[in-house]
Amino acid sequence: MRKDINAMRTQTVISLINLKGGVGKSTTVINMAAILADMGKEVLCIDADPQANLTQFFGYRDPEKTLDCTLAQLLDLDAEGRSDYAEDYIIQTAMPGISLLPASIDLINADIASMKAGGRVSVKAISDLLEALTEAGKGVIEPPEPFDFVLIDCPPSFTAASVAAIYASDDVIIPVEADLFSIVGLTTLLAQINSVRRIQPRVRVAGALITKWHNTAACIQGECALRASAVPVFNQTIRRSDKVTESIFAGQALQAYSPQSAAGRDYRAFVAEYLEEVR
Ligand SMILES: Nc1ncnc2c1ncn2[C@@H]1O[C@H](COP(=O)(O)OP(=O)(O)OP(=O)(O)O)[C@@H](O)[C@H]1O
Ligand SMILES: [Mg+2]
Repeated sequence: MRKDINAMRTQTVISLINLKGGVGKSTTVINMAAILADMGKEVLCIDADPQANLTQFFGYRDPEKTLDCTLAQLLDLDAEGRSDYAEDYIIQTAMPGISLLPASIDLINADIASMKAGGRVSVKAISDLLEALTEAGKGVIEPPEPFDFVLIDCPPSFTAASVAAIYASDDVIIPVEADLFSIVGLTTLLAQINSVRRIQPRVRVAGALITKWHNTAACIQGECALRASAVPVFNQTIRRSDKVTESIFAGQALQAYSPQSAAGRDYRAFVAEYLEEVR
């Protein structure tokens, strides 16, 4: 028997978001997912970024050519042969405990459609996306196991997908580099998150996560400024480490590639802090 999607709402949905690019959103999704999966949790990663970095990381290099079932297809209600069952869009990755709802560049069409519908993110596009992200399309879903955590990798912009991801979330985590531009950009992001919270008060800003931390005066100054701001900031920071880039090339999370690297240890401590302090 197929379960009603509402039965899935016991899961914790977390969006990793920052309007700034290259701050470690996708890297954090990958490493959080791997750590939670190692703890025996069932994790669904949703790639909500048309760049599809997360999808590529899991081995799908040309998702628009090689995958029939991506988030873009799930949203295209008129697509020929479209399935109403989200389980048909969810891929078991090679990593035990981690499933993927992949993205492709086609996802950009959802935003173009919303722009055409009035130059702003249209309610229709948002509700379609919401349905995809929170209720898995118009149908019902029977995943192999209920998911404990859903991690949504957002694009570096405030798209319809980003709005939908925030709306669908219990927690928002903001990976951030400790520099002035990032700190200034957070004010804009927080205002946008708050505008979503007005219609969906469940959403909580779990905190900013300082990534690529390194022991320089500028980085320490940036960290101090961030901690003095109104944004909650996780105590744990993620150190800059070449092992991160190497592990992505190797198609592995740090847990497998270099568990004792600085960033590998930091990610474990961060997940422990998140589970203790926030959940
Ligand atoms: N702790 C770290 N140490 C060193 N390099 C890192 C670290 N975290 C991320 N990186 C590197 O920074 C780059 C950007 O990371 P990532 O793709 O995760 O950022 P993103 O925020 O998802 O980017 P985008 O906004 O384009 O989606 C990658 O090359 C990644 O390997
Ligand atoms: Mg990314």
